[in-house]
Amino acid sequence: MSAPTLTRYTGKTALITGGTSGMGLATAQRLRDEGARVVITGRDQSRLDAAVSRLGNDSVLGVVADTSDLAALDGLMDDVRERFGRVELVFANAGVGVFKPSDEVTEADFDLSVGVNFKGVYFTVQKAVPLMPEGGSVVVNASWTLHRGVGGLSLYSATKAAAHNLARTLAAELAPRGIRVNSISPGYIDTPMYPEAELPEDIATASRNRVAAGRFGRPEEIAGAVAFLGSADAAYVNGQDLVIDGGLVGALVS
Ligand SMILES: NC(=O)c1ccc[n+]([C@@H]2O[C@H](COP(=O)([O-])OP(=O)(O)OC[C@H]3O[C@@H](n4cnc5c(N)ncnc54)[C@H](OP(=O)(O)O)[C@@H]3O)[C@@H](O)[C@H]2O)c1
Repeated sequence: MSAPTLTRYTGKTALITGGTSGMGLATAQRLRDEGARVVITGRDQSRLDAAVSRLGNDSVLGVVADTSDLAALDGLMDDVRERFGRVELVFANAGVGVFKPSDEVTEADFDLSVGVNFKGVYFTVQKAVPLMPEGGSVVVNASWTLHRGVGGLSLYSATKAAAHNLARTLAAELAPRGIRVNSISPGYIDTPMYPEAELPEDIATASRNRVAAGRFGRPEEIAGAVAFLGSADAAYVNGQDLVIDGGLVGALVS
């Protein structure tokens, strides 16, 4: 028997920052499949055009907006308001990965990482909330790395810990408006940020070996979790971090 078709997002609008590839694009596709109107963002018009066309053009809006640029975020929200009027789900997903030992991190690395992964998430949510009705949901894309002290990831992990803490805090602050806020912590997901086939084989093998499932995750496996968190199926899930990692943080592989 095939699974029933889900229509949880019919008549709803989702805003996904960083929707041109990886988890953002997979989530946009999943939400489209469930009936949503979708707004995706990115830094590059041609990548956005390709993603919009892949998602089917109809009821899909692509907006060039660097999330670390507050004026660009204001323009994004104007576009969302004008085209769709409101937004039921915000997936604050755009992120960058600077993976370096702490003694090699430069001020430019710091400003980029904090600017996109923390400031970008902070102001995306702040500026989207006025467009969100009661029952709306925010999902912040954090990372499994916030749950561990992983050498070489000080800058990245700290920005993700900040984003996760922001989600918990806003869950409390936005509760009176009927808006839930959660974060997700993906494990090793095969995307342009951590592309399994392009990693040195020893790193790819070591990564797989740390995971109980013995493999990388697929962006579609994150998309399903975001679709759940944003829906009424998760109406009583608030202020949580959902680790989606095949058993990396929580399972001891021996
Ligand atoms: N892959 C993993 O193993 C993994 C694990 C845990 C968490 N994450 C997190 O998951 C999120 C999605 O990453 P991904 O793995 O799916 O990688 P990805 O395919 O590289 O996606 C990153 C997305 O963010 C967009 N982006 C980057 N900087 C931006 C900015 N300043 N303004 C607007 N958009 C921006 C990119 O768009 P353009 O390049 O077109 O501008 C792209 O759409 C990130 O927050 C990442 O930290 C990834």
